[in-house]
Amino acid sequence: MLNDEDNQRMCRVGANQPMGRLLRRHWLPVMSTDRLKIGGDPLPVRLVGEDFVAWRDDSGRVGLFDQSCLHRSASMSLARAEGDGLRCIYHGWKFAVDGTVLDTPNVADPAFARRLKGRTHPVREAGGLLWTYLGPPDEMPAFPDWPWMSLPDAQRLVVPHVQACNFVQVIEGLVDSSHLGVLHSNGLRQATRSDLGFAQKVQSMQFNLAPRLEAQDSDFGFYYAALRDSPDATTVEARVTAFVAPFTVLNPNGDIMSLLVPIDDTHTVFYHVFWSPTEPLNREPLRSRHLDFIGLTDDALVRFGLTPDTMGTPGTPSPANNFQQDRVAMRGGLSFSGLPGLIEEDVAVAVSSGPVRDRTREVLCGADVAIRRLYNALLRALDQPVPPIDYQTITGTHAQLDSRADWRELLPTLQTSTPQGDH
Ligand code: FES
Ligand SMILES: [Fe+2]
Repeated sequence: MLNDEDNQRMCRVGANQPMGRLLRRHWLPVMSTDRLKIGGDPLPVRLVGEDFVAWRDDSGRVGLFDQSCLHRSASMSLARAEGDGLRCIYHGWKFAVDGTVLDTPNVADPAFARRLKGRTHPVREAGGLLWTYLGPPDEMPAFPDWPWMSLPDAQRLVVPHVQACNFVQVIEGLVDSSHLGVLHSNGLRQATRSDLGFAQKVQSMQFNLAPRLEAQDSDFGFYYAALRDSPDATTVEARVTAFVAPFTVLNPNGDIMSLLVPIDDTHTVFYHVFWSPTEPLNREPLRSRHLDFIGLTDDALVRFGLTPDTMGTPGTPSPANNFQQDRVAMRGGLSFSGLPGLIEEDVAVAVSSGPVRDRTREVLCGADVAIRRLYNALLRALDQPVPPIDYQTITGTHAQLDSRADWRELLPTLQTSTPQGDH
């Protein structure tokens, strides 16, 4: 439970809000880079409550421009793509991707353009994503060089979906082990029949709905472990999740990362990142099998209104139509949730609790250890400088341990503040 003031501080992402300022002190994913073709059109994109235009010039360089033109605010998403720059269609001012003003045809003096600088932002391309930094130049942190970014493209799968709620409640679903065997009980049953590596790693969860939960704060956020004892109590299965403030979750599978990036206060892009050190996940037939199992195929996303073009369109599943839940299948024992798959189940419960969840009314229990840690980690991060983070060593992980072992031994490179357990 949080008071309303802390809830707003934790959730609101505008430039003048505490969380908005924190997000702007981190590198943020903007979009998948394969959407930006050489010679392509400028693409509008909304991020942390502001509007931008992304574009790739003829030499392959990418720019992220403020959407409103420097001159008198016509939208640069209407601009002409002219090889080395974008030309605003209103009065023809032309800007290169680094903000250089290339032309101001309604001003005769050529020195005028040289005195100006277009509003563009630092960008990087990495791991199939375009990233930007929107904060003060002197506070720019090191780039998040996650190990999966250096894998060949074929071994990395990055799939976004969008959903109509605040980003914090999307993160909550990822640090909440106790919902898996309930909300996703159909999916876990399917996992027992699948030979996909991903599926096999989650099979055990359906057999114990109340794992012991322990958490450990770290400079970057926290780790938390869901611990399930074997029937004879000689071993324990530990599934350890890492949360890196303010928007990154590393799944216990060890090869899944989730980036929960605010579009604005009430909309979020969820980038699902899967990778494999050996398998060509991003090549057929593995790609389709993987996406099909998770429910991230194009068809599934369009049907549930989880793409930018379909989110909020009349007729798609939403709170207004109870997400088109299949009550017949629920009564007939065919489906626990009445929703088509894992993603739809997570989206429905997160969106159903409101655009920005009211945390003054919740009743947390022992199973919500990591939810409390999440609130604390986010609120703590608001008031602190961004810590140096070793992105090469932070990991989610799982293992079968001797019952006397401490799961923290799985994290030899744990960056911690003071050790502290939480049961
Ligand atoms: S508003 Fe863009 S050139 Fe005038
Ligand atoms: Fe879930």
